[in-house]
Amino acid sequence: MINNKSIIAANWKMHKTADEIRQFFHAFLPLEEMNTSQIWIAPSSLYLQQTLELTKHSCIQIGAQNIAWEASGPFTGEISAHQVRDVGASFVIIGHSERRRIFHETASQIEKKIGMAMECDLQPLLCIGETLEEREAGLTDQVLTDQLSSALQLYPHFKGTVAYEPIWAIGTGRPANLEMIEQAHQKCRDLLKMLCHEGDRIPLLYGGSVTENNVKNFKNIKEVDGVLVGGASLEPLSLKAIIQGFTQ
Ligand code: PGA
Repeated sequence: MINNKSIIAANWKMHKTADEIRQFFHAFLPLEEMNTSQIWIAPSSLYLQQTLELTKHSCIQIGAQNIAWEASGPFTGEISAHQVRDVGASFVIIGHSERRRIFHETASQIEKKIGMAMECDLQPLLCIGETLEEREAGLTDQVLTDQLSSALQLYPHFKGTVAYEPIWAIGTGRPANLEMIEQAHQKCRDLLKMLCHEGDRIPLLYGGSVTENNVKNFKNIKEVDGVLVGGASLEPLSLKAIIQGFTQ
């Protein structure tokens, strides 16, 4: 485990109102597992400030789910890396497959977003992963190579985190099997070592249908430093059970 601490990251996507966030932390805090894991939560950007306030006495890291690739200017509806950092967030998810697929984010936009995040002192959490068609066509390694190199080739000093999330495993209740995860993570590690000076120290997370019932399976896979959780992170007791399952 890099830094001897696993990372459990929660992506809340477009869920939860102010009241629901308050209720979540009422049940979720305090946490006793902080010595063995880093807990990261990405709420809707609208509630970043509220979430930061609610968690200020904990070690939970709060981040955004997306940022603009430009620094500022006429980009109606966008939120800049600088604004996200300004409210106190510490990380940002970049290149989630829902952004790539539904909002047509391109490799070049993702590469710029990584640069913006690093410029603003926000830790990038870069998501990569293949579709089912790509896996079935034997293209997984190629997709990982393309996505990682296009995102990171300009940043040999990249110091973020990478999440391998096969698209077909996200929100389907069908996580990748252990062999697939091990192979993909090894591939990512090899690529990171080629692309980045500290490529052997970049944490690698697995994401895609992680739940409290299956999380234990992932923790002993080589090169898995943590998990990125969507649906199962929305309930406080479920997220707590995932943290316990991965770290104990
Ligand atoms: P899931 O989502 O845990 O609901 O599959 C993971 C993600 O989208 O990061």
